[in-house]
Amino acid sequence: MEEIISLCKRRGFIYQGSEIYGGLAGTWDYGPLGVELKRRVMGAWWEFWVESRDDMYGVDTAIIMNPRTWVASGHAATFSDPLIECKNCHARFRADKIDMENNCPNCGKKDWSDVKQFNMMFETIVGPIKDDKSVAYLRPETAQGIFTNFKNIIDSFYPDLPFGICQQGKAFRNEISPRDFVFRSREFEQMEIEYFVNPDNWETEFDKLLAQIHEFLDLVGIDKTKIHELEVPATECAHYSKRTIDIEFDFLIGREELLGLAYRTDFDLKNIERESGKSMEYRPKDGTAPFVPHVIEPSFGVERLIMAILTTVYTKDGDRVYLKFPKNLAPVRYLVSPLLKNKPELISKAREVYKGLRKRGERVMWDDSGNIGKRYAKADEIGIPECIVIDFETLEDDTVTVRDRDTTEQVRVKIGEL
Ligand code: GAP
Repeated sequence: MEEIISLCKRRGFIYQGSEIYGGLAGTWDYGPLGVELKRRVMGAWWEFWVESRDDMYGVDTAIIMNPRTWVASGHAATFSDPLIECKNCHARFRADKIDMENNCPNCGKKDWSDVKQFNMMFETIVGPIKDDKSVAYLRPETAQGIFTNFKNIIDSFYPDLPFGICQQGKAFRNEISPRDFVFRSREFEQMEIEYFVNPDNWETEFDKLLAQIHEFLDLVGIDKTKIHELEVPATECAHYSKRTIDIEFDFLIGREELLGLAYRTDFDLKNIERESGKSMEYRPKDGTAPFVPHVIEPSFGVERLIMAILTTVYTKDGDRVYLKFPKNLAPVRYLVSPLLKNKPELISKAREVYKGLRKRGERVMWDDSGNIGKRYAKADEIGIPECIVIDFETLEDDTVTVRDRDTTEQVRVKIGEL
């Protein structure tokens, strides 16, 4: 894990948030390669779940919502973790993640406070006056932006059941102890689907979505042997869920939740009806009686997907370290390099190839630093699938060397066939 974190920082994938001021716990900044990877993962998700289907509707809703949202959803009352404090050193911990029979891991004394429930929503003030009425929250899940737009989507599109509403975006949780790199952050990105179904069919639709989740994980190249389904016992399901399957992954920090699939019943729409006084009923086109649909929710966390992908692709082969990204996810697709950096004719030919690929919309990087061996090593570390080298032969026959990241094999290819 340390090696991956260090590579991520050194090579411009992920930096600690506000590092220059000593950091801010639980926040992370994506560098040029990290943001490209993240956008590609999110793009693959959008294409798979939204663009390639005709039963899904995309939305992008506000992060700050009317606080009644969180009363209706139950978050105001129940979105909390148990907190304990060491009375000696004032370090705070999640009571469910620590053995209170033991001494404080921070100072070694044993003087625990009582357990208190700590609400994880971040508060903010809307408008210029700070009073009880101006308090609002940064959303702790993207899901509620979807539920509160259910009626809008019905009115605008009148879709057939089952159909889904999808959203990608930031979520915020004031985690008591953010930890394990980006795994538990205070600001992170979710990709959620609320899939509205006839309650009679929820089991079939649940199984279909579960199979599609596995298909998606395969598409982004996540190691199948490290993926496990955990049927969450009814007593441990979230307050809104009647059945939950956690998709777990063997991270380097241990087996942990990657994403969740929950049967949320009509919990959310019924709560919105109560809080807003507006009907959330769906009117079937065949004239049968209106009803409030039930919901199945696949909920993905982008940071955890990125961690699972990095764990899958990080490869060591003797002294060689490389990231074996699938081609569709690699932040950089090609490296273009002149064999020698002090030969203007090689540089200008290499520039031509570089610009040609750029023009075609490829993700391409230029490198003429150090020697070719070092350039390959750098390219491997950031997971570039192919390195194109322009040498003296190129000037004669318009062919270049293409080196494969995984096999290190080199072949000669005509520029026109790249
Ligand atoms: N709408 C349902 C929901 O939010 P959740 O299990 O609390 O369910 C869904 O969160 C997913 O969001 C998790 O499976 C995980 O991938 C991601 N996630 C949750 N908390 C996170 C955190 N503090 N840091 C990074 N990702 C997180």
